[in-house]
Amino acid sequence: MLLQQVFWLTYLVYFCVFFLSAGGARVNVTVDDAEIDNGVSRITYSDPTTWKEGNGCTSCAAHPSTDNVFDKTWHDTSFPTNGTYGDLRNASLVFNGSAIYVYCIISHSLDNPFGNSDMTFYIDDEVVGNYALYPNGDPTYDFNVPVYTNDSISPGVHSFRLQGGSIGGQWSIVLLDYIVYT
Ligand SMILES: *[C@@H]1O[C@H](CO)[C@@H](O)[C@H](O)[C@H]1NC(C)=O
Ligand SMILES: *[C@@H]1O[C@H](CO)[C@@H](O)[C@H](O)[C@H]1NC(C)=O
Ligand SMILES: *[C@@H]1O[C@H](CO)[C@@H](O)[C@H](O)[C@H]1NC(C)=O
Ligand SMILES: *[C@@H]1O[C@H](CO)[C@@H](O)[C@H](O)[C@H]1NC(C)=O
Repeated sequence: MLLQQVFWLTYLVYFCVFFLSAGGARVNVTVDDAEIDNGVSRITYSDPTTWKEGNGCTSCAAHPSTDNVFDKTWHDTSFPTNGTYGDLRNASLVFNGSAIYVYCIISHSLDNPFGNSDMTFYIDDEVVGNYALYPNGDPTYDFNVPVYTNDSISPGVHSFRLQGGSIGGQWSIVLLDYIVYT
């Protein structure tokens, strides 16, 4: 009787291990906005001079508390009202995976900073989503806000791009904290 139980237990453990490995263990990779890999920033910012490291930035209007910020860093940029194509703010990441989750800090302030959000998301240069939120005047920030999630991407290498601002759109801010892919 005891031997039979041991047999079934062993069988169950092998069964679980088999399924976990056959499922190609889905691993979450978190890429911080400031992550450097072999001397190169994992996330590419374009135009780089328009994106600032937000923590300690003296020229930035947004000064959220770092308590709830991943790795205490974020990238800050603003698209100007009536901006042109060259004014669109791009943050790009090449990843190998089947899901992506993009997290920003969201400001609701109407003034200093003007917390208007207007982002468009691309996978492999196709528009796949957007996030737009006009501030309600609340001076606080929201942290770890998933501005774009997609868990139905064909497994493999893809390029992701967050575009801040839109042609014909008004002034908008991006406070990018981190990106997770699976
Ligand atoms: C950002 O990407 C858009 C295409 O979505 C392009 O038109 C624009 O020139 C890019 N801007 C910069 C500064 O790289
Ligand atoms: C944006 O462009 C429109 C149309 O040309 C103009 O009426 C408006 O004043 C401009 N806004 C700003 C803030 O420059
Ligand atoms: C992408 O990840 C899969 C699963 O880990 C791996 O088999 C494949 O070789 C990777 N592709 C590239 C180009 O790194
Ligand atoms: C997820 O990405 C794929 C492209 O890989 C796209 O076809 C699909 O519409 C996206 N889904 C969502 C919910 O954004």
